[in-house]
Amino acid sequence: METITSTSLELPLLRKGKVRDTYVLEGSLLMVATDRLSAFDVVFREGIPRKGEVLNRLSAFWFEKTKKIIRNHFVTLELPKVNNLPGYLKGRSMVVEKCTPLPLECVVRGHITGSAWKEYQKKGSVCGIQLPAGLHDGSELPNPIFTPSTKAEKGHDENIDEKRARQLVGDETFETVRQKSIELYDFADAYARKRGLVLADTKFEFGLDKDRKVILIDEALTPDSSRYWLEEKYDVGILESLDKQYVRNYLEGTGWNKSPPPPPLPPEVVQKTTERYLQAYAMLTGKKL
Ligand SMILES: Nc1ncnc2c1ncn2[C@@H]1O[C@H](COP(=O)(O)OP(=O)(O)OP(=O)(O)O)[C@@H](O)[C@H]1O
Ligand SMILES: [Mg+2]
Repeated sequence: METITSTSLELPLLRKGKVRDTYVLEGSLLMVATDRLSAFDVVFREGIPRKGEVLNRLSAFWFEKTKKIIRNHFVTLELPKVNNLPGYLKGRSMVVEKCTPLPLECVVRGHITGSAWKEYQKKGSVCGIQLPAGLHDGSELPNPIFTPSTKAEKGHDENIDEKRARQLVGDETFETVRQKSIELYDFADAYARKRGLVLADTKFEFGLDKDRKVILIDEALTPDSSRYWLEEKYDVGILESLDKQYVRNYLEGTGWNKSPPPPPLPPEVVQKTTERYLQAYAMLTGKKL
């Protein structure tokens, strides 16, 4: 199977994101998940074989499972009947409803790690939420917390407190996305646990549909937007990630300053990343890709 890091379709382009390219169809959008990898908001030159397909099919899987919690933008994995679409789109593209994205990254954390762990060590709190003393990297929190961040057009997303988030989307929408995000997290974590994985944290995006109703958009519960840990390792104190954390850890060890240009990724790191993404897919869905 080909590794795809760029697309050029005979359709109007809405947006090229770090990972996904979105094209305009009549009344809907075609979202293409490429094999690009971004870490620390920098896109790497190397593609990760199979990654786009894992993201796309796993999102579709979760959209189906979670639609009873909240409606989402998923329409179909079938390729639209448009002339000259390349065959590589099969499996890595999805037709979705066009929405107006809310300017908020809706992060839910059931465990403390990553940027939240850094913030907690400095302040004892995360996004203005006071946490118990004595937590360590990976600790389970008493309850999952909602720690939204801005959606930065350029540069890094920034963690914000509740007051700022309410200003960005309004009180009513804030209440909706907070409640739905936590419900989605609880459901997915319970599901993952039955399959040997811990969902440490995840990020959702919501948008307004044509009736201005809040629905779930973007990707859902993928190894790009979530941290999944092997439960058997977690239980003995090891955080073994089936997601992008593996690449982040590699990069932390190289001394790279996290600004472009990105360093090359060794073939072994690329291959191990593919393996982790495929393993997450297989464990969660019970099917090999
Ligand atoms: N149904 C939708 N309608 C309109 N825009 C959408 C929809 N679903 C997702 N998007 C937007 O499409 C983009 C997806 O591309 P990608 O995830 O690669 O972007 P990104 O570089 O990660 O940027 P971001 O940090 O904004 O997600 C996101 O900006 C997301 O907000
Ligand atoms: Mg994104």
